[in-house]
Amino acid sequence: MDHKPPLTPMPLDVLLGRVAYEWGTRKRIFDLPIARIFNVSEGPDLTMSFLGRPAATPVGPAAGPHSQLTENIVLSWLGGSRLIELKTVQILDELEIGRPCIDMQTIGYNIEWSQELKIPQSLDEYVKAWMMIDILTGWDELKPYLGDDPGPHIFDLSVGYDLAGISTPEVGAYIDSMVDAGAVIDRFRPLIPEPFTEWRDYPFKARIADTATLSTFHGCPPDEIEGISKHLMTRHSLDVIVKLNPTLLGFDNVGAIVNDELGFDEVRLRQSDFDADLQFERGIELIEELESFAAENGRQFGVKLSNTLVVENHKGWMPDETMYLSGPPLHVVTTTLLDRLNRALPGKLRVDGQDGSVQVSFSAGLNKDNMAQAAGLGLAPLTVCSDLLKPGGYGRLKPMLKNLQKAMEEAGCTDLNAWHRHSQEAAQAESRTGAVDAYVAGLHDPERNEVYRKDGNLKLPRAVEHDLEMWDCVACNFCVTVCPNDAFFRLATPEELGLDARQQYFVLVELCNECGNCLTFCPETGDPAQIKPRLFTDPDRFALEADEQAFLVLQGADGYAVKSNQQAGDENAATLTTALNGEEPFPLRVAQLTSD
Ligand SMILES: Cc1cc2nc3c(=O)[nH]c(=O)nc-3n(C[C@H](O)[C@H](O)[C@H](O)COP(=O)(O)O)c2cc1C
Ligand code: SF4
Ligand code: SF4
Repeated sequence: MDHKPPLTPMPLDVLLGRVAYEWGTRKRIFDLPIARIFNVSEGPDLTMSFLGRPAATPVGPAAGPHSQLTENIVLSWLGGSRLIELKTVQILDELEIGRPCIDMQTIGYNIEWSQELKIPQSLDEYVKAWMMIDILTGWDELKPYLGDDPGPHIFDLSVGYDLAGISTPEVGAYIDSMVDAGAVIDRFRPLIPEPFTEWRDYPFKARIADTATLSTFHGCPPDEIEGISKHLMTRHSLDVIVKLNPTLLGFDNVGAIVNDELGFDEVRLRQSDFDADLQFERGIELIEELESFAAENGRQFGVKLSNTLVVENHKGWMPDETMYLSGPPLHVVTTTLLDRLNRALPGKLRVDGQDGSVQVSFSAGLNKDNMAQAAGLGLAPLTVCSDLLKPGGYGRLKPMLKNLQKAMEEAGCTDLNAWHRHSQEAAQAESRTGAVDAYVAGLHDPERNEVYRKDGNLKLPRAVEHDLEMWDCVACNFCVTVCPNDAFFRLATPEELGLDARQQYFVLVELCNECGNCLTFCPETGDPAQIKPRLFTDPDRFALEADEQAFLVLQGADGYAVKSNQQAGDENAATLTTALNGEEPFPLRVAQLTSD
């Protein structure tokens, strides 16, 4: 790529129009089927407290690709997330991110360390999502699947990466607008289309967020972390979580776990990265200092364990020299760090059934198999990134929540507090000091930790020997579900086209940032985001495109029409026009075809 592929967020009327249309024709919302919508009113109560605020479940997307665009946030919420850690916003909003930037082939690696939207665009995306969640909550069509009351949800700001940037008028104005979004909400009201127009006068709450998770970049000095946290608490009156890096555990300890114990001998840690990061003793001081500063200022404080692990890029699939590790091995590193912090700060952390003043948010290799146990430790919220980038995507949230509820039911626990007590008692019955100690001991037991070891993570995504083509493929649907932006969609193949597959696949280029995740999971050879029909709905964006695979979708008098960069008579354009006007027509509202 020699240019930054611009993400072009969709306007609120287009998004809501798509919801109504897709629901009416396919009973899906942004490609998520009914069966994957989570109903909080069924099963044990999963309500958690986040810095004193209730959320109806403790689960949500970690700051990352699942919380950047409006539709991502809505998808996360439909899947059962009630704590949305928004994609990190920082002052440098015109950075070039190398592509591909996500590699989930086995465990997780990425180089996507910054937001891709301009700051005002991020604000709009979050406000649109906030409004859409209220609208969908009240929409009668969804009540049988979501329940009458989907319960409270929280939008948690994520900001980075230095005090100078966070103190700029631009970032300051962004935070202020999230704390009081009244003006932005009013700007969007007239855009609410049929059949949702009754929500134009709805009293949407203007206070979208009043908590922030500070994402500390590798190498961020401790004084800087302290300064930013205090700035957020005093200048913006936010309650604050500091997201710590796994380097806090120390070079030798992390190496012993990742390289030796878990067997990821190819992972290359660099001493210099650990030296540049917060050291354990200073980390303890920092937590104590910020906890008392918060208490003096009437604010709440917590820590998040953890960010990704900085490593040398040994694979070369993504372009940068450095990449960031996530997924199963990070789970072992981060829970070990939790155990160590818990011992060094007796009674302070709100885990192990302790009523500590420091909340512990968590993200590191969570999935449906370990969610229940992690929730039992007292960790909240439990946020996920890598697992949602695997086939099934946002649809993987519901099984995580269902497994948690099942474990609680089996133990006779009706709410999360009872589940914490149960986990604590079970650990003590095994002569462990607490639930964290017991859990971490299991993760280091070679008899029990195969799923976290290299030999338990060797399986590659399915592959077939066939070159991917524009039309037809094995139609596995992976490109649809692994895309965090819902940039892929499928349509039933009209019979008259004479194609083999029952479904055809298309990419909405304006939502694709060329992250590479569909390329990893497509079983055929080739990049779906480049080979499948590349559709534009915005004429201005299409005008910038010379690509011969690109098509602009327009609304003609007799249905959808397409414009391509090929000369007249392009066979693919004719096939595409038929596909878009089939039994399941193209689900988006688009510009009218004009005579030119
Ligand atoms: C593709 C990708 C992008 C991410 N972007 C951010 C980000 O913008 N801000 C942030 O604080 N963390 C970011 N993270 C880190 C996640 O929030 C999370 O802490 C980490 O991936 C560990 O969780 P996991 O093992 O479930 O992926 C990102 C992770 C991935 C994989
Ligand atoms: S279409 Fe593929 S490359 Fe584009 S954003 Fe989605 S997963 Fe990434
Ligand atoms: S393009 Fe690839 S990932 Fe998408 S449905 Fe076809 S075979 Fe599956």
